[in-house]
Amino acid sequence: MNACPFSNPSQVFEDLAQARDQPGLTWSEVMNRWVVSRHDDIVTALHDPTTFSSRPTVPDMPSHVLEAFSGKVPLRGTLIGHDNPIHDRLRAAVNTFFMPRRIARFESWIEAQAHALIDEFYEEGEVDFRARFSSPLPLKVISHIVGLDPDRSEVYFKALQFFSSPGPEKLQPLVDFHDEAMAAIEARRYRRHDDLMSHVWNLRDSGEAEMDDFEMLSLFPGLMLAGHETSANLIVMALTHMLARPGAYETAQADDASRSRAIEEALRFEAPITGMPRRVTCPVNLGGTELKPGDEVFLAYASGNRDPHYYERPEEFDVERSGTQQHIGFAQGIHACLGAPLARLLLKVEMRVIADRLPNLRFAKAYEDREYLPVREVRALVDTPFAWDVTDEGRAKAGRHPKPSEIGNDDGWMSGHVIERRKVATDVVEIVLAADAGALPAWTPGAHAEIELPNSLIRQYSLTGGQIDDGRWRIAVLREADGRGGSRFMHDDLPMGSKVRVRPPRNHFPLSGAGPILLIAGGIGITPMIPMMAASDARGRSSHLLYLGKARAGMAYAGDLEARVPDRVTVWPAQEKGRFDLSGYLSALPAVTTVYCCGPERLIQAVEQACETYGLTCRVERFAPAEFDVGTNAPFEIELRSTGEVLPVAADETILSVLGRRGIFVQSTCQQGTCGTCEVGVVEGEILHRDSVLTKEEHAAGDTIMVCVSRCAGKRLVLKL
Ligand code: HEM
Ligand code: FES
Repeated sequence: MNACPFSNPSQVFEDLAQARDQPGLTWSEVMNRWVVSRHDDIVTALHDPTTFSSRPTVPDMPSHVLEAFSGKVPLRGTLIGHDNPIHDRLRAAVNTFFMPRRIARFESWIEAQAHALIDEFYEEGEVDFRARFSSPLPLKVISHIVGLDPDRSEVYFKALQFFSSPGPEKLQPLVDFHDEAMAAIEARRYRRHDDLMSHVWNLRDSGEAEMDDFEMLSLFPGLMLAGHETSANLIVMALTHMLARPGAYETAQADDASRSRAIEEALRFEAPITGMPRRVTCPVNLGGTELKPGDEVFLAYASGNRDPHYYERPEEFDVERSGTQQHIGFAQGIHACLGAPLARLLLKVEMRVIADRLPNLRFAKAYEDREYLPVREVRALVDTPFAWDVTDEGRAKAGRHPKPSEIGNDDGWMSGHVIERRKVATDVVEIVLAADAGALPAWTPGAHAEIELPNSLIRQYSLTGGQIDDGRWRIAVLREADGRGGSRFMHDDLPMGSKVRVRPPRNHFPLSGAGPILLIAGGIGITPMIPMMAASDARGRSSHLLYLGKARAGMAYAGDLEARVPDRVTVWPAQEKGRFDLSGYLSALPAVTTVYCCGPERLIQAVEQACETYGLTCRVERFAPAEFDVGTNAPFEIELRSTGEVLPVAADETILSVLGRRGIFVQSTCQQGTCGTCEVGVVEGEILHRDSVLTKEEHAAGDTIMVCVSRCAGKRLVLKL
């Protein structure tokens, strides 16, 4: 064993194994820090960012550099070098963008770009694969996703090399790069696209993200640094291991699921980040060693990933590995890799394109002769020659794929415009939308649609009116003076003909069951009730509408309804008639009645309570998420829809850990509700949301949960598992 586990790159895993077996932490001369080698100790430190500061992850710059960069280049890196409260404030602006199901819309673009790169070198039959493919691809992809020009990514790459090997001649290119990024940010201020810069502007405009322009600039260059070298090294190391084991490459390349499985194993077996440093801020004992403020540790993810207490046969590279233990190649906690969902998508697409385009792929040197760069945070091969058979069939594929420039991001949005608008009450405007081409999709009563305004704010509105399939959508919008700006825009800046984008409606508030129906609307909560009443009439179900509001003048459609169905609607403006006796009214209903309620939170809670008291079935649609008391955890149960199996979740457990113990693997990264990786569908039950990636509307919809942190607000959740 070498005294320092990082002194010999070809023996690093053997040395780390010995470090794990020794009591306390091991000192590393190479890292000049204490090495944390056991899985549990690493995870403990990751989840205690107050004691273990991330400041040393980004080294301080010498004074002449600080001078040259002052006011032009942010120096603390993207999130990674920030502690809280700054870290969480900045990360909240980018988290939701990277959720797996949202980032998936870039898949076709990534695939097209991968083909375009292979077209450039296919005929050569052998290249340094990292230089020609696995390094340029993530740079182009991240540039595109961020909102920079993917065709200039090589220029960006050269500029960013300052951080790996600083030199005076590299100062100006880095300043130029930041100027270009700042110009792109400025351009997005007024004209939004489907990219990360626009996403951050949207959140800044709506007040959901707080930062200044320079902080915003700091987010993007660091993403390219954090994301490109890591992905570039991972895939080439993974390929060498697969190709060296008989049948492993073919097994991994069977389909997308096997590709993803093999990539996860590669991230466990030899992740491109060996580990990251932390600085101790207060006296603490970690792994049996007493540490004092100022001490620095190196969290060796590469070692935790081979800890035999966590993984069976940890030294074996098994592309079919199953099991429920999530590797820590992307770390965990507040600094868990932001780009993990993108990396997973990118690597899977790379594998797929390689399988399609490079027959008989081989590592063009003996596996045993592969050489690694000296071990630092980054784990990388020195050179990466790969060869393949150049065939006529392969030639025929060149240039046959769509160009990246021809591909949009397939995110389900359609273009539409405003064809009618009229005032339907004080502070309520009705707007009718039509598709630019063809018809807008039909919908079902209770559904809401997502609408993106020309200023890029995205809002959800219940669809209203009697016609559900005439290719037009009707919404009514209450001006909310203290709102987040969407309703003000609808009222003041969306004239006839204005362009919008829309996404197909979703319905979390459908009419169901049999028997009589009571619809209770509070204020603008009337909108879904109108089509629901029409639908219940069409189905022959008796229904009554109770419409509560403050003043009659502000109650949209009240007059129409009274004129049309006078005996089946009760319009109750409190200013005229006083407070409505909700409890008394509901107590007199037959027990078979189903009550539907939409309106302000206070009304919904009162209706829910009264329905529980009188044994009535209650369905609600919230404008905002329910407010939960997150103080104390209560136990509850989860039911797996596929098998009907019921599992208890104790007060001190997470759903993720219970599923893991039962042998059901749900992929996770941060394990604290910020990345969206562990999302699971919910069929039934009330969710106690504690994540920070889902939108308010998604929380309110209640059909999806982040199982690492969120819980059940009632007794049981039925999961789509
Ligand atoms: C195989 C590819 C990747 C690996 C193995 C990886 C690994 C990691 C690890 C281990 C960390 C935690 C650092 C720490 O503990 O201090 C991290 C953080 C980070 N990664 Fe990745 N990464 C990959 C790809 C990406 C990509 C593609 C992006 C962006 C597009 C990205 C962006 C980030 C950012 C911004 C952070 C800092 C997060 C924070 O501090 O909140 N990474 N990554
Ligand atoms: S693992 Fe990140 S949200 Fe659950």
